[in-house]
Amino acid sequence: MATTDAPDPLDDRLALEGLLGQAEQLDEHLLRWTSTRLPGGQGGRSGRPYDPDRHEAVYYHHDPPSRLRALIAVHSSVLGPALGGARWQPYADIGEALTDVLRLSAAMTAKMAVSGLDCGGGKAVIIGDAATKTPEQLAAYGRFVERLGGRYVTGTDVGTTLDDLPLIAAHTSRVVGMSPAGEVVKDTAEPTVRTVLHGMRASLKAVFGDGSLARRRIVVIGVGKVGGEVARRAAAEGANVAVTDLYDEIAAPLASEIGAEHVALDGAYAQPCDVISPNALGGVLNSSTIPELRCRIVCGGANNQLLRDPADADLLAERGIAYAPDYVVNAGGAILVGVDYATGSASPEDMLERVGATTLDLLRVSQREGISTAEAALRSIDARLAGASGG
Ligand code: PHE
Repeated sequence: MATTDAPDPLDDRLALEGLLGQAEQLDEHLLRWTSTRLPGGQGGRSGRPYDPDRHEAVYYHHDPPSRLRALIAVHSSVLGPALGGARWQPYADIGEALTDVLRLSAAMTAKMAVSGLDCGGGKAVIIGDAATKTPEQLAAYGRFVERLGGRYVTGTDVGTTLDDLPLIAAHTSRVVGMSPAGEVVKDTAEPTVRTVLHGMRASLKAVFGDGSLARRRIVVIGVGKVGGEVARRAAAEGANVAVTDLYDEIAAPLASEIGAEHVALDGAYAQPCDVISPNALGGVLNSSTIPELRCRIVCGGANNQLLRDPADADLLAERGIAYAPDYVVNAGGAILVGVDYATGSASPEDMLERVGATTLDLLRVSQREGISTAEAALRSIDARLAGASGG
């Protein structure tokens, strides 16, 4: 009999089938759904080349010995192999995990398309507290990835670190940024920091005519692998930085290290400033935070910042706030590892650099045509996907 805290895979299956329809059982612990539609999705892009609510495949795996419960979503492989990191989070239930993996994998497709990479979009979520993850769970996750035979290639995301990768890679070769000998040779966080800063300078240029960070007030929300370094480098460039995080014990020492102000998370979105930079979890730009904003620009590394895309982008545009689409400016990690899987791409350095120009371009198209930057980005993503699929 199961203990009370043990996840019951049968419950997961029932809940997932309630949302996605009947599963195909690939083996005792592996389920698959193909051509799914995001339950409760926002619709609106049905039939377009880029439809974030429609996925090629979703997989669920449960490993009883390690108690791993994980989902992998392949949103699109139209442009190339589906790449994306693994997020480790204590989701309240399997439905919440499913929504997250579907939205995150779709964002990876957008990121690859808008950066000009011949890669597709995928993502994994593991249900659990990242602080208590075990080597056995990482191994089980590696076997799960391997079982998909290359349809999905994994890496790090919120809740997973470079230290986890060799443990995963011991069971699968489908891990980004590793040498054949199984050593981590590429980090995705550092190049992401670089592209966020390129995007920030471009946004400042579009709004103020000057792309310098010096003396600009920048509120960095979430100071983990990406946000912490965005804050550090912005401060080094002379910005007046404020930092906040769910965990004060992370934000406080960083604030004193870089001479930044440490502000409370509660109310951080209402801080008067030039730039709000969200760098943690998604859904933070929504109908309750957007009216509170007192910034000119939103530019950060977090995935899926808009709760409703593109409706919340319209709200930002109506308020005259320049929104640098997240999947444009946080593409640095994807670019650096994606070039290993794409043929004929330009040099990664050029592609990282180009994120600034793309951001500026989207802001200008949005101003000129009276559409949100998110809508402008979606149009270019549609064009790339339509071209690739011959549609
Ligand atoms: N997880 C990061 C992102 O969302 C970096 C990453 C990109 C990891 C591509 C794996 C593959 O972009």
